[in-house]
Amino acid sequence: MYDGGKIIPGLIIFVLFITFPIWYNRGNAGTVPQPELPKNYKQCVLPDADMRAEHMQLLNRWRDQVLRTGDRSFDVKIGDTMYQKSLMNTCMQCHTSKKKFCDRCHTYASVKPYCWDCHVAPVE
Ligand code: HEC
Ligand code: HEC
Ligand code: HEC
Repeated sequence: MYDGGKIIPGLIIFVLFITFPIWYNRGNAGTVPQPELPKNYKQCVLPDADMRAEHMQLLNRWRDQVLRTGDRSFDVKIGDTMYQKSLMNTCMQCHTSKKKFCDRCHTYASVKPYCWDCHVAPVE
């Protein structure tokens, strides 16, 4: 004789237990960050994939060039505007929300650029 009254609930608990990772993460498994892109612009200062991968290097390069040689010019024209090497006057003119753009990825990636210790983020 076996005790069906214990085996069935036992099986249910066992199944719930081994599938825990599946249902526990339902709806948020692998959520990727959703940075809010500028609505009034179609392109960035470099192709999108390059920006995603290399914006840190670009910013460091710009900073070094501005501070060491005073060269602020950057030869990219989008529409009628020429862009200069500047975090505030270039990046943040289009990406007007640090919170909804930069931070969404950085929080996800656990990076905390220290730039904002000195550079002022746009008022939101
Ligand atoms: C002229 C407006 C403009 C300027 C200036 C600008 N961006 Fe962008 N940026 C955009 C747009 C529009 C996109 C989305 C492009 C696309 O979807 O192809 C974008 C995309 C990006 C992305 C990739 C986001 C993603 O999810 O794919 C990063 C990172 C980024 N920009 C950072 C910067 C930084 C850092 C600067 C300054 C060095 C900067 N941007 C300057 C308009 C701008
Ligand atoms: C599409 C996602 C994404 C967006 C949007 C984004 N970043 Fe980043 N950023 C990253 C990732 C991921 C790293 C870490 C890269 C690494 O460590 O190699 C990073 C690193 C950086 C770093 C270097 C930090 C360090 O401590 O090394 C700076 C500076 C930076 N981002 C500036 C910005 C600024 C300014 C914006 C908004 C205009 C921005 N990023 C928007 C994904 C993003
Ligand atoms: C200790 C304070 C401080 C920190 C931290 C700092 N900066 Fe700067 N940054 C400055 C000062 C001061 C200037 C010169 C401003 C000028 O002449 O326009 C500057 C200039 C720049 C410039 C060129 C000019 C401009 O208008 O943007 C860039 C690009 C830049 N910084 C990027 C960064 C990035 C990216 C980080 C973070 C990885 C960072 N800075 C962290 C103080 C700082």
